[in-house]
Amino acid sequence: SSCNVAIVGATGAVGETMLKILAERKFPIGTLHVLASERSAGGKIEFGAKKRVVQDLAAFDPAGVDIALFSAGGGVSKEYAPKFAAAGAVVIDNSSAFRYDDDVPLVVSEVNPEQARNRPRGIIANPNCSTMQMLVALAPIHRKVGIERINVATYQSVSGAGRSALEELGRQTAGILNFQDPDPKRFPVQIAFNLIPHIDEFQDNGYTKEEMKLVWETRKILGDDSIQVNPTAVRVPVFYGHSEAVNVETREKITAAQVRELLASAPGVEVVDEPRAGGYPTPVTHASGNDPVYVGRIREDYSHPRAVNLWIVSDNIRKGAALNAVQLAELVWAERTAG
Ligand code: A2P
Repeated sequence: SSCNVAIVGATGAVGETMLKILAERKFPIGTLHVLASERSAGGKIEFGAKKRVVQDLAAFDPAGVDIALFSAGGGVSKEYAPKFAAAGAVVIDNSSAFRYDDDVPLVVSEVNPEQARNRPRGIIANPNCSTMQMLVALAPIHRKVGIERINVATYQSVSGAGRSALEELGRQTAGILNFQDPDPKRFPVQIAFNLIPHIDEFQDNGYTKEEMKLVWETRKILGDDSIQVNPTAVRVPVFYGHSEAVNVETREKITAAQVRELLASAPGVEVVDEPRAGGYPTPVTHASGNDPVYVGRIREDYSHPRAVNLWIVSDNIRKGAALNAVQLAELVWAERTAG
């Protein structure tokens, strides 16, 4: 049997990649609806060899949709995800609208897939891109020796902020090389040739919301509220692929060699860790356009008796968003077809 799928936000950076990955993985699609705002309704987008006409979400009737993948922002999800669920669809939502609700599971397909089954509201939340790649790499360590505390600094590409952010980095880079004014619009200050220690809104505690997502989501996904997480999230002038410098304090000691061995057989992880020039993953050389979470620079923290350092790199649009959403769709569909 085949699955009727709707992509909400199909014209966006994540939506476009959802379509690409559904085709790559030969997801058994019956009817495919590509939805966006009325701004792009009537336009055409490619799916495999065929073209689909973009429909206006506001005018769309969700009856008959089996699975809906949402990536059109929190406001759109809040308004429309419950309507799709009420019409019988399972909603897989890439926004942060429902992630912290107790009755909405938050699932990384390699880490807590069993939780996707329990979805009383018909909604499964896709984690934030930074949490996603970090936990694909750290969950095996947590299971083996227990994680007490995580110190993480992120180096996040502009694609996480959508198509307009990709355009701003391109335009600014070319413009500055031609002595033009950077004219920041999508980011609060110039992003080309710069770094910005500010992603999402500032919170009362001085952290940004992007940073607090790493705290809240790590605890919810690993099911352990005792894990301490101390993040700094930074936007960098990279198009695709987030990187993270992570220090993990464990309950029991684990050596660098043990971490390497553990991660070598972990699902979704590829270890790239040789102490030579180029023997480590980077967004451009490894992550961009690829599925795995790459881990390198694995070493024991010489300032601490029970801690290791890792460098974690992944394509934020793929594993960080579209790929995990499609993997969740595969889980849901496997349940349905199993009876
Ligand atoms: P549109 O192309 O019509 O603006 P990105 O994160 O790359 O900026 O993409 C955001 C996605 O969400 C786009 O597909 C965009 O469609 C869609 N979108 C934004 N606002 C709405 C809305 N009010 N209704 C439906 N789709 C929306």
